[in-house]
Amino acid sequence: MKFAIFGDIHANLEAFDAVMEDAKALGADQFVCIGDVVGYNANPHECVARLQELGCPVVKGNHDEEASATTEIVGLNPLAHAALEWTRRQLTQEDKHWLRNLRMVRQVRDFTIVHATLDTPTSWAYVMNRFDAMASFSYQFTPVCFFGHTHTPRFYVKALSVSLDSSESLRIDAGRKYFVNVGSVGQPRDGDWRSAYALYDHDNQQITIRRVPYDIETAQRKIRAAGLPDQLAERLALGK
Ligand SMILES: [Fe+2]
Repeated sequence: MKFAIFGDIHANLEAFDAVMEDAKALGADQFVCIGDVVGYNANPHECVARLQELGCPVVKGNHDEEASATTEIVGLNPLAHAALEWTRRQLTQEDKHWLRNLRMVRQVRDFTIVHATLDTPTSWAYVMNRFDAMASFSYQFTPVCFFGHTHTPRFYVKALSVSLDSSESLRIDAGRKYFVNVGSVGQPRDGDWRSAYALYDHDNQQITIRRVPYDIETAQRKIRAAGLPDQLAERLALGK
């Protein structure tokens, strides 16, 4: 059994398609999404439809929450705010209903998925270092949990203490816990423009972070054609 675990798609259809193609070519037969399906890029409705077709487990991200709410958008940076106002106009009522009803935390087989943190999932805090990760580990009751939100792939490992492991691939040791940031499909922010996701070979207990090039020019062209802020197109190429 091989899981492709991905998130922070952020309405980037070209990136999402490239990740799906890569995962299937590597034998992935299970798909799991850690949220932020929409926001920032130009194909929110299409990305929701793709996920619904997959019928895979999905948890809610902060952009999914804001895009499907009817209240005023608060607490987001100007770029995210502008994109969310536009996104709300693109999504159907059915899309919004589906996004609104996503759960915050789920268990899939023997692992957990959450968008931001396990200690306070609804506050959308960022896990930026091992101290932030320690708070989530206190609420992690499975050996492995996958998350996102920072758009930066990372392995946090809890043995006697919590450490950051910067390898691209690691094998799960019994007796340790793993809090794995799968990076972002549609808007990576670690200086590498290629899409990121995690491939979890469940039989061999191996987790690998994959990087996948995609048709970035088309994604940028669509952002500009939609009248979204130009910076949203520029940042894709910079990976930030
Ligand atoms: Fe995100």
